[in-house]
Amino acid sequence: MVQTLTVLGLESSCDDTAAAVVRQAQGRRAEILSSIVHGQTELHSAYGGVVPEIAARAHAEKLDICVQQALDTAGLALHNLDAVAVTAGPGLIGGVISGVMCAKGICAATGLPLIGVNHLAGHALTPRLTDGVAFPYLMLLVSGGHCQYLIAHGPEQFSRLGGTIDDAPGEAFDKTARLLGLLQPGGPSVEAEARNGDPSRFRFPRPLLDRPGCDLSFSGLKTALMRMRDQIVEEKGGLTRQDRADLCAGFQQAVVDTLAEKTRRALAVYLESKPAEPVVSVAGGVAANSAIRSALETICDEAGTKFTAPPHELCTDNAAMIAYAGLERFRQGAHDGLDLTARPRWPLDQTSPAMLGGGRKGAKA
Ligand code: KG4
Ligand code: ZN
Repeated sequence: MVQTLTVLGLESSCDDTAAAVVRQAQGRRAEILSSIVHGQTELHSAYGGVVPEIAARAHAEKLDICVQQALDTAGLALHNLDAVAVTAGPGLIGGVISGVMCAKGICAATGLPLIGVNHLAGHALTPRLTDGVAFPYLMLLVSGGHCQYLIAHGPEQFSRLGGTIDDAPGEAFDKTARLLGLLQPGGPSVEAEARNGDPSRFRFPRPLLDRPGCDLSFSGLKTALMRMRDQIVEEKGGLTRQDRADLCAGFQQAVVDTLAEKTRRALAVYLESKPAEPVVSVAGGVAANSAIRSALETICDEAGTKFTAPPHELCTDNAAMIAYAGLERFRQGAHDGLDLTARPRWPLDQTSPAMLGGGRKGAKA
């Protein structure tokens, strides 16, 4: 096996078209040589959510441009690569197919090996890319389409301790923003409003805390928010800036408290297995939220466990995580053929029963 590997990654499973080049010398920390992301927020803004057909067409138009930019930024050509990794699921199927077809085209033309990557594995392996974290570690994967606690044992070995039974937290942030007339994506808008709000003015529920285990539920929060908003509008004829900020702060605090308690439980389960160097990591778009990061950090400090969180640009969807996850698979000797299929659903832990509910990216993986 070659000592130093250079992998091109492609990502197109939702509303970001991305390409990146990652290089790793064996036994050394990986290096991101380029990471290009073309977001589609403005294409979907009129519709209040991601429109799968619009997303797929935009990916098909932008993927080759992204690839060229990623190679140019890295100062490399296709013949300098060792493999091409691509998100092969889970996600919006039209977008995933666009990425897989683009990667297959490159591999068919160059003879480079093709590596299909699970998008969730990309997020879940990010702490190894950014901080060189060793297996096994506890991962809270929290994004617009997913929310789950995983113990990462290896590049393709994950056991799920629990997850959301309905909405993902990012989805709840996005819906909250929509209900309050804030910009999409909702996470950053709601977080910014919440900074000026009083989290104790409105009492939001803390779903599923009364039940044992690590499963979560977030769909009730938006219903509660809608009721509170409608009541203020009925009583006062509209929302003031302060009302909006207090609603955002109350909503965010409910998400923080729920994730904090479930993280305590997941951490207890993880520590039972007596890992040599215990580490808790968070990944996915919602991991960019400062209130959530600092709550998780406090829990880990209290437990004497190391905590890592990736920089913001590696929390949200990107192709560096896909290139890196592909690189880990490739180093283990795995790759796919040109018959690689795009999968709308692809659970990371194949042994656990499927989670309920439908997310922004379709059914929960
Ligand atoms: O991982 P990601 O880019 O795409 C998915 O795989 O879903 O996550 C996007 C989600 C969106 O729902 C967005 O609102 C949320 O991450 N997000 C945040 C923040 N930044 C992005 N949620 C809360 N606070 C943030 N600062
Ligand atoms: Zn994602």
